Amino acid sequence: MTGEREPIGVIGVGWVGLVTAACFAELGHEVIARDIVPEKVEALARGETTIHEPGLSELLARNAERLTFTTDMGQLLERARLLFTCVDTPPTRSGDADLSRVRSVVADLSGGDHVLVMKSTVPAGTGASIRRDRPGLPYVSCPEFLKEGTAVEDFMHPDRVVIGADPGDEGAGDAVARLYEPLGGEIVRTDVASAEMIKLASNAFLATKISFVNEIANVCEEVGADVGEVARGMGLDQRIGPAFLRAGIGYGGSCFPKDVSALKMLAGNSGYHFQLLGAVIEVNELQKRRVVGKLQKHLGSLAGKRVALLGLAFKPDTDDMREASSLVLAARLQGEGATVVAYDPVAVDAAQGLLDGVEFRASALEALEGADAAVLVTEWPEFAALDWRKAGERMTRPLLVDGRNFLDSAALREAGFEYEGIGRAVESSVPAGTAE
Ligand code: UGA
Repeated sequence: MTGEREPIGVIGVGWVGLVTAACFAELGHEVIARDIVPEKVEALARGETTIHEPGLSELLARNAERLTFTTDMGQLLERARLLFTCVDTPPTRSGDADLSRVRSVVADLSGGDHVLVMKSTVPAGTGASIRRDRPGLPYVSCPEFLKEGTAVEDFMHPDRVVIGADPGDEGAGDAVARLYEPLGGEIVRTDVASAEMIKLASNAFLATKISFVNEIANVCEEVGADVGEVARGMGLDQRIGPAFLRAGIGYGGSCFPKDVSALKMLAGNSGYHFQLLGAVIEVNELQKRRVVGKLQKHLGSLAGKRVALLGLAFKPDTDDMREASSLVLAARLQGEGATVVAYDPVAVDAAQGLLDGVEFRASALEALEGADAAVLVTEWPEFAALDWRKAGERMTRPLLVDGRNFLDSAALREAGFEYEGIGRAVESSVPAGTAE
């Protein structure tokens, strides 16, 4: 790799931006990354990693000399031509995507031969509207498909890279494509609106798969079938595939809830009622709440009961609490009068301000002490390795709702637990994780 190439600019160092910056640096590029939050920039400049993401700290450390973190947009504009925009697009109160941060990046670009490469997830039509406002500013849509927890791996080994460029911007699209060529994934060249839709449709489809399998799980509970077996049998059909058929207590995170809602609103804004996505959202909301009913089935009223939540993050290997199922679940349990105690290996700091009245503990065993029930919310590997017999002895009542079908139900029953999964046959000893 040579230092001959032009530096790459990254705007916004949240999850996508930081991983993008670190991975491009790993590929040998000089990267100038800009964020408006001084504390974040200072921490990164000191060599600290601001998010919990496997492999990222090592990448940042290894490529420190190729990475510049700054709050100064001027420095970035002066040195970089390709500007990867990775600012967040949170939902507004109406459920639309908030594009104010994207708009302020566009406003900062004046003159020069810059290319705006949009990695932020934006509604279809955003590129067209930016091009209308800023004729002459080359625009490339390059949506990101990385998953938190495996983000570095996903970036380095993409299934596909989508590059949308409209007539006149093909050269800018070529420049972006060249950056991704060494990664080997299929490069999909298309127009901007289609690239924007590929991103939204992909997330909405994956969320639909999850809500679908969650409803199948709920039916399995009625008919005595096991959703793990059903998903395994379905997933072997190549037209269906095994991924994202893990039933549980609903999807969370910064992407699926936001993007499903944004796509629904985008359709609605143009007069189309996207019925299916309405159901996907509703199923997801109800799925988090079904745990309360499962606990009540065993405990009756939850008033005065102590419930331990194992895991708080929206999925393992991240400290991200955005739209985590634990937030709704904790509030619902408190609403029923229960005391909620919680443990998460990494997300406690992030969770502190979000879970009013929840008692945090430093280990799973401490959280389970004196509990009337436990709910496994996030499938952290350490929960599979827990000494469940010892755990059960510490609890007032060894009752576990496994919200991710993560544990070996037979082993748990063997250890004296009343065990409930999501859509798992009551007497099943089918090992978890048979469907990816
Ligand atoms: C998701 C997409 O998977 C990425 O492709 C995309 O780039 C990203 O959103 C984004 O738009 O930035 P992420 O939110 O990091 O990635 O995490 P996922 O692994 O997709 O999980 C999302 C949620 O679905 C989690 O709460 C997880 O527990 C849940 N899930 C996932 C299930 O309940 N069942 C499954 O089978 C899979």
